[in-house]
Amino acid sequence: MKKQVGIEAVALAVPRRYVDIEDLARARGVDPAKYTAGLGAREMAVNDPGEDAVALAATAVARLVRNNEVDPSRVGMLVVGTETGVDHSKAVASHVQGLLKLPRTMRTFDTQHACYGGTAGLMAASEWIASGAAAGRSAIVVCSDVARYGLNTAGEPTQGGGAVALLVSEKPDLLALDVGLNGTCSMDVYDFWRPHGRREALVDGHYSINCYLEALSGAYRGWRERALEKEVVRWGDTLPGEQLARILYHVPFCKMARKAHTQLRLCDLEDAPGTSTSPEAREESAKSQASYNEQVASSLVLNARVGNVYTASLYLALAGLLHGEAAALAGKRVGLLSYGSGCCAEFFSGVVGEGAAARMARADVDGVMAARERITIEEYERIMGLPSDTPEPVEPAPGTFRLAEIRDGRRNYVGGA
Ligand code: CAA
Repeated sequence: MKKQVGIEAVALAVPRRYVDIEDLARARGVDPAKYTAGLGAREMAVNDPGEDAVALAATAVARLVRNNEVDPSRVGMLVVGTETGVDHSKAVASHVQGLLKLPRTMRTFDTQHACYGGTAGLMAASEWIASGAAAGRSAIVVCSDVARYGLNTAGEPTQGGGAVALLVSEKPDLLALDVGLNGTCSMDVYDFWRPHGRREALVDGHYSINCYLEALSGAYRGWRERALEKEVVRWGDTLPGEQLARILYHVPFCKMARKAHTQLRLCDLEDAPGTSTSPEAREESAKSQASYNEQVASSLVLNARVGNVYTASLYLALAGLLHGEAAALAGKRVGLLSYGSGCCAEFFSGVVGEGAAARMARADVDGVMAARERITIEEYERIMGLPSDTPEPVEPAPGTFRLAEIRDGRRNYVGGA
């Protein structure tokens, strides 16, 4: 039997505070419907300086290891995908290894390419395992980020933060990846960028949406070509994209997943052999509400409550989907679209495992989300104004990590117990 490779287990870490998105809209004098219906948001996570990419990643990995009884001596690779690195040289992965006292025998590194960095890490890990070089060992891939645009900017309601840790192995209880079917599309564009020394991202918002959609088209068509060749999907009564039980997208804000799904359907409708429909009819059919409801909507529950988590957004969507539907989706194939500005997109697929519901129960998604505290807009604005290098002295919640201080450029963390 062909070796299976994929995601065995997942764990999340989110900031301990959030704002209600309607509170933010009212404070900005904006119709709340713009943020709820227009962007698809409900709540937005608020990171304080103690909750940096290291602290969030370490908290998520600690949960992954503890909840799934992972034997660290069997983990040969620890990759952190992030675009919120804390040092030009020292890897976030090294901090995580040290904080969790993980074995010295593992390969540790960070991957950076905007929101695509986590997927780059997942592909490095899964292809390492599929190649046989891992010799039975597993990998941990963590996506950890803080999305920050600043007060009173167009991007403000699309901020957020958190981390998602994935255990990647030959026992893919959550998702067995279709290794080798992946389609990619990359372009050199300035749609979103974070120059060194700046805390806030710079973005050409509407252009970034166009770049995302163009890159999606290339990546999806690449995947579809290989999936057709291998007869994973076919042209027939239904479109190839419709043969996936669910499609998960990178979610900078929830409405983007809807735009992405319309674009993916348009690719199929335009390319269908012998198509005779008009461009207007194709555009109308691409927008199908029924298709969106069935294939996409259920994956957005957590993203709507956390906001953008850059590298982790796609994997937060996966966790949200499986949290609600793991048992119903067991044995079914789902598609995943990763997008990182700059830019690179990758479309890949996998089959949900029979053990997914049991693994999701261990992730305690409800417990993680319920531990958060809603704060006022005044408190959010105070936190946004705090300097990033002097975190407030706060006792970390049990099992979580926090940045305590920075001395001579060295970062010291507390917590974990
Ligand atoms: N009621 C209902 N809907 C309303 C409304 C109201 N009163 N007022 C406006 N809307 C709708 C608009 O029609 C629009 O919907 P459509 O896009 O479907 O037309 C939506 O609300 C947003 O309105 P605007 O386009 O006018 O909003 P904006 O210009 O203020 O900003 C944004 C939107 C460009 C997404 C901005 O939030 C932004 O720059 N965000 C950050 C960049 C981003 O997330 N880009 C995504 C692609 S890049 C990527 O994916 C990488 C990454 O993670 C950053």
